[in-house]
Amino acid sequence: MEKINLIATSTFGLEAVVKRELKNLGFEKQTVLDGSIEFEADLTDIPKLNINLRSADRILLVMGKFKAYSFEQLFDRTNQLPWGDVLPIDANFTVTGKSIKSTLYSVPDCQSIVEKAIVEKLKKKYKINWFEKTGAVYKVQVAILKDEVTLTIDTSGAALHKRGYRESQVIAPVKETMAAAMIDLSYWNKDRLLLDPCCGSGTIPIEAAMIAKNIAPGLDRKFVSEDWDIIDTQAWKNARKEAFSAIKTDIVPKIQASDIDPHAIEIARQNAENAGVDDVIEFNVRPFNKVKLTEKYGVCISNPPYAERMGVLDEVEQLYRDMGKLFCADKTWSVYIITSHEGFEKLYGRRADKKRKLFNGNVKIDYYQYFGERPPKK
Ligand SMILES: C[S@@+](CC[C@H](N)C(=O)[O-])C[C@H]1O[C@@H](n2cnc3c(N)ncnc32)[C@H](O)[C@@H]1O
Repeated sequence: MEKINLIATSTFGLEAVVKRELKNLGFEKQTVLDGSIEFEADLTDIPKLNINLRSADRILLVMGKFKAYSFEQLFDRTNQLPWGDVLPIDANFTVTGKSIKSTLYSVPDCQSIVEKAIVEKLKKKYKINWFEKTGAVYKVQVAILKDEVTLTIDTSGAALHKRGYRESQVIAPVKETMAAAMIDLSYWNKDRLLLDPCCGSGTIPIEAAMIAKNIAPGLDRKFVSEDWDIIDTQAWKNARKEAFSAIKTDIVPKIQASDIDPHAIEIARQNAENAGVDDVIEFNVRPFNKVKLTEKYGVCISNPPYAERMGVLDEVEQLYRDMGKLFCADKTWSVYIITSHEGFEKLYGRRADKKRKLFNGNVKIDYYQYFGERPPKK
């Protein structure tokens, strides 16, 4: 295979963040749709992308795109694609599907047509009639949107938010990919103090520490396409080696993480240790009303409780009021908060400078951004 097309999937609202990350990794030309960014790459880029992307959900290999209005068209066009170039004789492949606003709306039927078309293609290539499916895993997806079919194979396996460090978590954790995006969308950098006063399992402080030290998020986990014959194992070794040598061991960011719950702090500490960043995060058991701003030009990035998911409404609302009181008193602090509570700005006591609609799992949330004064140039 020469050039391939890949799709980086993302949470709705984070496409611009993933687009920027792809650009920084050298993938300039991209087509952005809701929840997906398509771009051209080489097969050997698959390891680098999976290991380094912080905010994308998955990397999908695009096998083909075409219009289909009948099952016959779906079968024929699927059958014409070069499945034998990717799937080996023992490929353990499954087909999942989704269909939105399309003539072919029965997802189970579309899945089985696609599976049949692939099997027929492989029968011709390998000259056998029965496939054992005992080898590497290939998850094919048939996605139909307004009659346009996109056939992909997932290269990631477990979604990319599963970095591997979060062994335990509190009740309503933020996804690692979302935490990384919240940091990316803020003006925080390693020279400014970062505070998460409701840190739960520590996801935001840990992701911040990994960003500051340039630790690739996927360095410590496995990806499903590592078992694929078409990607040279050397490409995986090279990508890991490159990511490993890019770690900035001399960077010591200032990060404070606190929570009212001692058990959450225990979990966060352990997760930080797993991620190799426990030495740069100061953990404390502390209710928010005891938090003190220890220096100027700090940045608070946090995911406090929202009443829907945890916490009693009165307590949550008092917490938002306390946040407003503390941070509005120091104009040098910048504050970034996600919550689904629509009254947040009123309780906080100030309209956000910027608001962004996002999703945390299935919960619709807003990302409230309050920009503090810029620190003086050094
Ligand atoms: C939504 S969870 C945070 C999840 C976290 N971002 C994670 O990924 O695990 C909210 C956290 O706020 C903490 N919390 C609730 N009320 C608090 C308060 N008054 N002061 C400090 N922490 C509080 C809870 O103990 C909980 O861990």
